[in-house]
Amino acid sequence: MSSTVVETKVIENVVWSACRAPSLYNIQPWQWVFGGGQLRLFLDPSRVTDTDQSAREALIGCGAALDHLRVAAAAAGWRAHIDRFPMPDSPNHLASIEFARMDCVTDEDRRRAGAIWKRHTDRLPFSAPTDWESFEPRLNSAVDAATVHLDILPGDARPRLREAAQIAESLRFYDVPYNNELHWWTAPFEASEGIPYSALVSAAEGGRVGIDRAFPVTHQPERRAEIPEDQGQILVLSTDNSARADALASGEALSAVLLECTMAGLATCPVTQLTELYVTRELIQSLLDHDAVPQVLVRVGVVPVTEKKSPPTPRRPLSEVLRLKS
Ligand SMILES: Cc1cc2nc3c(=O)[nH]c(=O)nc-3n(C[C@H](O)[C@H](O)[C@H](O)COP(=O)(O)O)c2cc1C
Repeated sequence: MSSTVVETKVIENVVWSACRAPSLYNIQPWQWVFGGGQLRLFLDPSRVTDTDQSAREALIGCGAALDHLRVAAAAAGWRAHIDRFPMPDSPNHLASIEFARMDCVTDEDRRRAGAIWKRHTDRLPFSAPTDWESFEPRLNSAVDAATVHLDILPGDARPRLREAAQIAESLRFYDVPYNNELHWWTAPFEASEGIPYSALVSAAEGGRVGIDRAFPVTHQPERRAEIPEDQGQILVLSTDNSARADALASGEALSAVLLECTMAGLATCPVTQLTELYVTRELIQSLLDHDAVPQVLVRVGVVPVTEKKSPPTPRRPLSEVLRLKS
């Protein structure tokens, strides 16, 4: 493929947007290298958490960043041509990306890229999405069904999900490495990585959701008290296999789903504590009507329009995650 040379400033901007992608505990496990007109994405192994032994969740984060990059590049007028795992001997080299000028940028391209900056993980309870039936086809077409399955769980799956969350919580109770990590990556102060306490919920608020990870609880007057119990839709992204390529593809699909929901004015929260442990992963698998490896759940719903917007979670400076090669 012949690629047009893309300016460094464009790369800096689109990589900065890509880094708004969600990642487990906001670890931001990516490293970008730009040189010779080509951008390369690497998994940074030094940022993979010890309990994510196969780096599956870190790879999901990198996949989300890769899709964010593609979206940001399109809004800047560049089509990203992505070669995934281009070097079989270098498994952390996740993608090589070349850019070609697009004939035109659509409003849809701009809106999607705008959603990158609007999206954030919302751990409070949601009201039920309205007009879900007409939204569902858009959601389905956002995901490449050849690589990732998208399932929308029926409302009556809730009790099983709550049960799975309780099992996960009790299995994790005495898991010292897991708890050390959880506390390390959640902080009462703002840093360039990790989850600030301002993005977490109180015990009562978390109890009204009932399926998210048990993060350290915060103390503040109860929010969204008008939603006694979460009524969000629960989506499951799953793959046929559990290879690194499947995790990366799941991350790309996660980004596509989150951005589609954000464009529709819906709030989202990725949830993975139920897909981390064998027993709860099996439980989630039993809720699907096909064989697949559940990778990530996403809670989707509506939040009160009058509510104050929460500040975006921080990100590492660009100089730490992007290397420019002359
Ligand atoms: C692979 C992966 C796993 C995640 N697991 C959870 C989870 O179990 N519970 C949760 O509340 N958020 C989860 N998140 C969301 C991250 O905590 C969040 O993306 C990160 O803190 C950055 O915040 P932001 O999404 O608001 O930008 C996950 C995100 C990814 C990509």
